[in-house]
Amino acid sequence: MEIVADTGTGPITDVDVRRLYAWPEAAVTGAATWVRCNMVMSLDGVIAGPDGQSASIATPIDKQVFLALRRDCDVILVGAGTARTEGYRPAAAPIALVTRTLDLHLDMPLFAQATDATPRTLVITTDEAAAAAPAWLLDAADLLPCGASEVDLPRALAELRRRGMARVHCEGGPALMTSLIADHVLDELLLTVTPVLIGAGPRLVHELIGAADAAFTQVLTEDGTLLLRVAFAPAVGS
Ligand SMILES: NC(=O)c1ccc[n+]([C@@H]2O[C@H](COP(=O)([O-])OP(=O)(O)OC[C@H]3O[C@@H](n4cnc5c(N)ncnc54)[C@H](OP(=O)(O)O)[C@@H]3O)[C@@H](O)[C@H]2O)c1
Repeated sequence: MEIVADTGTGPITDVDVRRLYAWPEAAVTGAATWVRCNMVMSLDGVIAGPDGQSASIATPIDKQVFLALRRDCDVILVGAGTARTEGYRPAAAPIALVTRTLDLHLDMPLFAQATDATPRTLVITTDEAAAAAPAWLLDAADLLPCGASEVDLPRALAELRRRGMARVHCEGGPALMTSLIADHVLDELLLTVTPVLIGAGPRLVHELIGAADAAFTQVLTEDGTLLLRVAFAPAVGS
């Protein structure tokens, strides 16, 4: 356990973030997938402000760590709801979007702002949805059909690793994180708790999924914000 009190020595750098949030060696070499989810919540457990955006509950240090973490991964995994609400754009790492409905549009910034220099977006969906995918989407993204009528996340993760993406950095949202926990494929939650009270609003996970066996492995405070690493126990038999 690493506990770092707020020393007031200045912002956490990218180098600090790489050290404090180091990936397991097996994920670095590609021998095994490691899935981490980075989320921010208010002191009372709400994950979006009244405007529906997570940015409105974030603090400068959370934003800084969020940006540094997504620069240090093989793929950014995100639910379609978050991509739609938060206006996802292409990033340094490829974005893998999870969607059951394939309710996507060419004018979404993720597709509209893509260039030859940006990594190609991956769309993880069902076989049924992929069979009816529009031509523009086949042009704009690589489709990964994984499961007949439901997305099989373990299969999707295996496919990502086959493509050299073992360091999977998930940015939520709650529905996707709930599925990852239910499927026992979430290894770690990187949770920022910010000192704001929101009241009503969406929570970290969508529905009761039973007790998840987890442990805090790192606790940092920086600039009045709490930055936690929480490890989930591997599934029995895995
Ligand atoms: N505080 C934070 O750190 C944080 C992070 C992310 C998001 N958020 C907030 O969370 C809210 C969005 O919540 P959300 O639960 O809708 O987000 P979400 O999990 O990103 O999106 C849900 C959608 O993603 C797809 N999806 C998720 N899991 C799936 C699965 N297992 N199989 C197939 N498709 C799956 C589905 O897309 P289709 O509808 O296309 O089938 C589903 O409707 C927003 O207010 C956002 O700002 C907060």
